[in-house]
Amino acid sequence: MTVRIPVITIDGASGTGKGVVTQLVAKRLGWNLLDSGALYRVLALATQKHGVSLENEPVLQILAEHLDVKFQTPETGELPHILLEGQEVTDAIRTEKIGNAASKVGTFPSVRAALLGRQRAFRQSPGLVTDGRDMGTVVFPDADVKIFLTASPEERARRRYNQLKEKGIDVNLSDLIEELRERDKRDQERAVAPLRPAEDAVSIDTDRMTINQVVERIMLEVTNAHIENACGKKGAM
Ligand code: DC
Repeated sequence: MTVRIPVITIDGASGTGKGVVTQLVAKRLGWNLLDSGALYRVLALATQKHGVSLENEPVLQILAEHLDVKFQTPETGELPHILLEGQEVTDAIRTEKIGNAASKVGTFPSVRAALLGRQRAFRQSPGLVTDGRDMGTVVFPDADVKIFLTASPEERARRRYNQLKEKGIDVNLSDLIEELRERDKRDQERAVAPLRPAEDAVSIDTDRMTINQVVERIMLEVTNAHIENACGKKGAM
C-alpha cells in the first residue's frame, strides 16, 4: 500500500515573508521543508562559478540537469546548509545579485523542467511544506493546502531593507523597490510557470500582519484540511 504524503504549498513574491513562514509551519508540523528559490539561486551561483551566460539556455539546461547540490538539514523544519559541488553556499546565494540572476535562469522552460524532479523528490514522509512561485500551480498541483502570500511592494522592500540592514549590508530603499518591481514583472510575465495563485489557493494579504499571525492563519487552513496527523510527526514512530 502506498501512503499519500501530504503537501502544503506557500507561494508568493519575494518579501512576502514566505521563507520564514514556511520554516515555522514546517517546524510546527515536524514536516520536511523545500525552499525552491534556493535551488534557482544555487543554479544562478553555478553559472557565475562556471562562467555561463544567463542567456545561454542550452548550457543552463545542462548545468541544471547536472547540478551537484545538497541540502543538509540538521533537524526537521530547520533551515538547511546548502552545498554546491561540496562547498557551503548557504549565505552566498542570498545576495540581491544572485536573486536577480535566479529570476533570469527561471524564465527558461528547459531549466524549470530540469529542476522539477529534484523538487518533487523532497516529498518525503511525514509531509512537505514548500515555498516558491509555482509550487501550487506546477510542482505540486495536488497539494492539500495551497497558500498565496501577498504584500505591497513598499512593505516588501521595507522588510527586505531591514533584513539586509540586520546583516550589516548597506542598501538604498528606493533601489530595492525598483529591483523588486523588476523582479516581480519578470516572474509574473514569464511564459512558463509564472508567479500567480493556483485556482484553489487561499490568498493572504500580509501587509498588516505579523509573521506569527500569518503562521496561525495557515495553521487554521491545515487544521480545516485534516491533514496534520495524516502520517504523524517525523520521528514519532
Ligand atoms: O524565493 P526567492 O527570492 O529565493 O527566489 C529567487 C528567484 O528564483 C525568484 O525571483 C524566481 C526564481 N524562482 C522561480 O522561478 N520559481 C520558484 N519556484 C522559486 C524561485
